[in-house]
Amino acid sequence: MCPFWRIKDEKLLTLEEEILVLESLRRAGVCFLGFEGGEPLMRSDIPEILRESYVRFHTSLVTNGWLLKNKIKEIKDYLDYLFVSIDGIGSLHDKLRGIPGSFERAIEGIKAAKKYLPVSISYTITKDNYYQAVDLVKLSKKLAIGINVQIAYTYSTAEPMAPGKKELYETLIVLLQMKKKGYPIVNTKGYFEAIINSWYRGIRWRCKPWLTINIDPQGRIVMPCYVLNEYSGSYKAWQIDIVELWNKYDWSRLENCNKCALACYLEPSLFNWFNFSIVKERIIDNIVEFIRSKFN
Ligand SMILES: C[S@@+](CC[C@H](N)C(=O)[O-])C[C@H]1O[C@@H](n2cnc3c(N)ncnc32)[C@H](O)[C@@H]1O
Ligand code: SF4
Repeated sequence: MCPFWRIKDEKLLTLEEEILVLESLRRAGVCFLGFEGGEPLMRSDIPEILRESYVRFHTSLVTNGWLLKNKIKEIKDYLDYLFVSIDGIGSLHDKLRGIPGSFERAIEGIKAAKKYLPVSISYTITKDNYYQAVDLVKLSKKLAIGINVQIAYTYSTAEPMAPGKKELYETLIVLLQMKKKGYPIVNTKGYFEAIINSWYRGIRWRCKPWLTINIDPQGRIVMPCYVLNEYSGSYKAWQIDIVELWNKYDWSRLENCNKCALACYLEPSLFNWFNFSIVKERIIDNIVEFIRSKFN
């Protein structure tokens, strides 16, 4: 799915170095941490790393689900939220992921994980799977979990993956309708509306990549964002004053970029305390859901 497996192997950070990264992020004011990868569950010390994250941040992880069923008991106490990638139903998912049996294993992993944690499917829309969007939303409903959608970005080192313009438009409209009908789509309505407005009507959203900080596997900060620098960072997070680096950077030139729709950048960019719909979806509804879960 992504091109990162092509990156030459480098020595991984030790647990002590991972903690240095986490500490410097905490000092800089980060409050939410999402582990992505590569495939995070391939690290044998992932429970220790997550434990260190969990005491500092709201912690989430996205996995392909292959190792999930076997590992869930080791990680469940250190996660607030889990995403499992599903890119199609059955054989389509297996074809896109390149390994037969991936779909079954990811679904088994989801069933095991949802006993302990809030779980969502992470569905990336590509030219090969846009037509299964409705089926994937229905699958998430059937599994009684959420689904988070994002649109494939074609990295310079990957084959073209992005969906065609017309197909994407139709898919976004259908997803927005399903969201409005109450299907368990995790994205805000604003996420779909912003893409439709920008990519089809010329009304741009204001991108705020400074709200998200991306760290590469060597603990280096990827600036200005994941997409424009394609996973190669420069400064080790614990060897630089992140706040000073952030404050010196001219972020304003990126406000109109609108090149990608990666949810980790677009959703925070859209958040606004004066937009009642987003405050309700992101804050009020979650508090209500949290309280309800305590009484169930
Ligand atoms: C890069 S993966 C890494 C985590 C894990 N190995 C997995 O497969 O989920 C994280 C998320 O990015 C999504 N993704 C992969 N390639 C992408 C692309 N070209 N554009 C946007 N998202 C992509 C994946 O589907 C997955 O949900
Ligand atoms: S739209 Fe995407 S690529 Fe452009 S600045 Fe924002 S996060 Fe980076």
